[in-house]
Parts: sequence; structure tokens; C-alpha cells
Amino acid sequence: MESLNKKFPEGFLWGGATAANQCEGAYNEGGKGLSTADILTSGSRTVPRRITPVLEEGTYYPSHEAIDFYHRYKEDIKLFAEMGFKVFRMSIAWSRIFPNGDDLEPNEEGLNFYDNVFTELKKYNIEPLVTISHYETPYNLTKEYNGWADRRLIDFYVKYCNVIFKRFKDVVKYWLTFNEINCLITPFGTFMGGAMMPEGNGELMNPSPNNMNASLNNEQIRFQALHHQLIASAKAVKLGHEINKDFKIGCMIAYMCLYPLTCNPEDVLLAQQKDNLINFLCSDVQVRGVYPNYAKRYFKENNINIVMGKNDEKILKEGCVDFYAFSYYSSSCISVNKENNNTDGNILGGIKNPYLKESEWGWQIDPKGLRWALNNIYNRYQIPIMVVENGLGAVDTVEEDGSINDDYRIEYLREHIKEMKEAIADGVDLIGYTPWGCIDLVSASTGEMEKRYGFIYVDKDNEGKGTLKRIPKKSFYWYKKVIETNGESL
Ligand code: BG6
Repeated sequence: MESLNKKFPEGFLWGGATAANQCEGAYNEGGKGLSTADILTSGSRTVPRRITPVLEEGTYYPSHEAIDFYHRYKEDIKLFAEMGFKVFRMSIAWSRIFPNGDDLEPNEEGLNFYDNVFTELKKYNIEPLVTISHYETPYNLTKEYNGWADRRLIDFYVKYCNVIFKRFKDVVKYWLTFNEINCLITPFGTFMGGAMMPEGNGELMNPSPNNMNASLNNEQIRFQALHHQLIASAKAVKLGHEINKDFKIGCMIAYMCLYPLTCNPEDVLLAQQKDNLINFLCSDVQVRGVYPNYAKRYFKENNINIVMGKNDEKILKEGCVDFYAFSYYSSSCISVNKENNNTDGNILGGIKNPYLKESEWGWQIDPKGLRWALNNIYNRYQIPIMVVENGLGAVDTVEEDGSINDDYRIEYLREHIKEMKEAIADGVDLIGYTPWGCIDLVSASTGEMEKRYGFIYVDKDNEGKGTLKRIPKKSFYWYKKVIETNGESL
């Protein structure tokens, strides 16, 4: 019998991932407008971030300087190149290109900044993978339109896409339309993804199921906003392919792996229903071009009435993505029995799994869940897949000799890479891997700096103090070897 091919394919896209609002800083330089990320205060695992409609004097806003990638991109890209990155996932800050979102003309200085970043990447043969909208919308669109609740956002977004697609058509091939588009299915997405101002006290609660802020919980408005994003995404895909037929444009889903807590058929069914609704609804539309039947039932049973434009069905059909990208951090369980211990996770928590350990931020660590997810996704779509976020948020200590020995991070990544290899042997067409926060950056859920994911340490603390010096961690050298050997040396 032929032996199993447990190897990463030739040309596998190894790299790392970031987002503009969490690394660039320079929030009011180069003609950039204020974005939704710029009015978010810092928080912690226990203290929620706050949305402040007006910037408060004396309040610390982590995105304003972040890790100053805007001024240090050359140094950072050089370090990525040293690790051997083949691909770098980054996002364009919409508010650098259209400061107010509804401007007539784009901001040349903003475009120019990304020209420079792409030139630098090219110097090292690093392929950019660009997220068009990553938790950052021009704040003016929130104030004037209530974000994606308003259908007019579609045109603003498509206009922005048209500008960046044309400008960067020869230097960027891989695009993602919306980061974690399915976050809008949860209350967390109201502001982060949907740029809609929640009613109430503006607290952006941690994504745990037991502390969801009720004021953020308005399904009708979120699903309508999501519909607008799905239309915008489909239009962008069509437009992108017209501008350059070689563009590869993907969806980006936060895959929140959910296991039934018990073999009670009720738990099993519930897990399947939630998997459909939370993980697959968006990609079913983006990959197949139609709303799935289970979504229609859910809308009906929950009095959700989506207002459709007369060509919407056609638009969705014409804008199917080329590949499926997702983030994966942890898994949790689900049960009809509510009397269980809860756990946190990316965007959504769930019930604790007694077989798993958790990170310092309470996200359960589950490498096998990644193999499970990869198979689950591939079985459904049979299109190329990229894991565009994965990693361990942890506190790092700088030793007296200046080294950072992040063995826990190496262990986390190694186990996940092993499972990706298994999934490839299962037959999954996995084409790339960009672990999250390849350089330390601001945490999206808590605004902390000290929830670190990077191979590169950045000297900055939760209050914004530090020299911003970059120091390669132990994982930096480990990952370099992984890339060099195409995943053989783990
Ligand atoms: C994903 C986001 O949800 O998870 C990133 O796309 C985010 O923006 C990442 O930073 C990790 O989450 P956190 O809250 O630890 O920063």
C-alpha cells in the first residue's frame, strides 16, 4: 500500500498575520481619518473596552500608536524576511484611503503608504495577502449612517475596493473581503465588524456567553447589516476578477469549533445547528452564492426579516470566492443543559471541555480541533483553504540576558502544525498558514499589549509605555526552521 503523504505541498504559503488597526498606529497622520478602532479604549480580560463617541482627554487608546508599524514597516518586514515568510497577511486601513468613508476622492498619501509597504515586501519576495476590511471602518460612516445597517455602505465599500484593486493590481494577488465576517452573527460583531453604535453604555464586552451585553444583542439589525456585507463582498469579488482575472479573493471566517458536550442526540443536533448558523452561514453564501435553507428557517423562526434588493440573489451568485480562509484559536462545547461551566474563546465562548487545557485568557487549546475543522470545511466546499489566524495569546517575560523563551508558544504552534499535516494527509487542500500577530500587537478583544502572539517581541506595555524595540523570541528561530524545512522540522 502506498505510504501516506504527510508533507506540506511545494510552494506552501508560510507566513504571519496582522491588521492595520492593531499595528500601524499613526492614527491621525498621512491624511488618515478616525476609524471605529480609534475610539476604542483599552481593557482587560475582566474590564471591557469602551466605545467613546468623542475622544476623551487623558484616556489611553491603544490603536493611536499601536506598535508604530506605520513608521517601522521596513524594520519589521526585514525581520519577517529573516524568518523566511512567503506571505504576509495585512490589512489596508479603509480610513487611510477614504478618511470619511464617503469622500469623493481617495487620499493619495494613504495609497502611497501601501505602495511603499508592497515595494518592501516585493524586495524579499513576500506575497501580500490583504484584508480589505479588518475591524476598522471610517468612524464617519458610523456617525452618519450607523455603519453597515445602512445599505449605502455597500457602494462606499465597493468604491474603496475599486480604488485599491486598480492601484495594487500588479502587486497584490490574494485578497480577503471582510475579516471574520461571521462575527456579525454574534453581538460582539455589532461594532467591531458592523461599525454600528450599540445602544446602552458602549461597553464592548468580552466575548463570553455569560456576559454578553444585552444592548448589543439585536439580531434583526445585525443580520441586515450582514446581508449588506455579503452583497458588498460578492460585488468586490466580481469587480476584482474584472480588474485582474488572476486575483484570488477569499472569504474569512472565524471558525469557532463547537463540540456536543454529550452524546445526547439533543446536544449533537444543537452542535450541528450552531455550527451551521455561526460557522457556515456566511461561507455558504460566499462560496455557493445562495443563502442556505437552514438560514431561511432560522430567520423565519426568529422574526428576522432581511430586506433584499431586487438583484441581490443574482449579485450573490456572481460573486463566489476563490478560496476559504479562516481563523482558528480554540474550541468549546455546547449542550441543551445550561448548568455547565463556561469558558471564553475567540468571539464566542461555550462550555468547558474537560479534556482540554486553556490559555491564560481562558481560551481552550485544541490542536485536534483544527484538523477536525479543516476536514469539516473541506468536505463541504472542496476549494483551497488557508488558515490565516492561529496562535497563543500569552504573557512573555524578557530574561536578564534579553532573551524571551516562549516554549509554550512553540508547543502550541507545533501541535497545530502537526494537525494541519494530518489534515493534508486526509486530503484537505490547504495552501497557506499565517499565524496571528506574528509581531506582538494590540489585542482586539481586550486592547492589551501584553496578550502577545508574536515571534517578535515589542517593548510596550498595557498602558502604552515602552521603547517599541523589537526583539526576536525563541519562537522566531524555531519558526524560521519550520519554514526552511517546509514543515519537516517541528
Ligand atoms: C481575531 C481577529 O478575532 O482574533 C484579530 O481577527 C484578533 O483581530 C485575534 O486580534 C486574536 O484575538 P485577541 O482578542 O486575542 O486579539
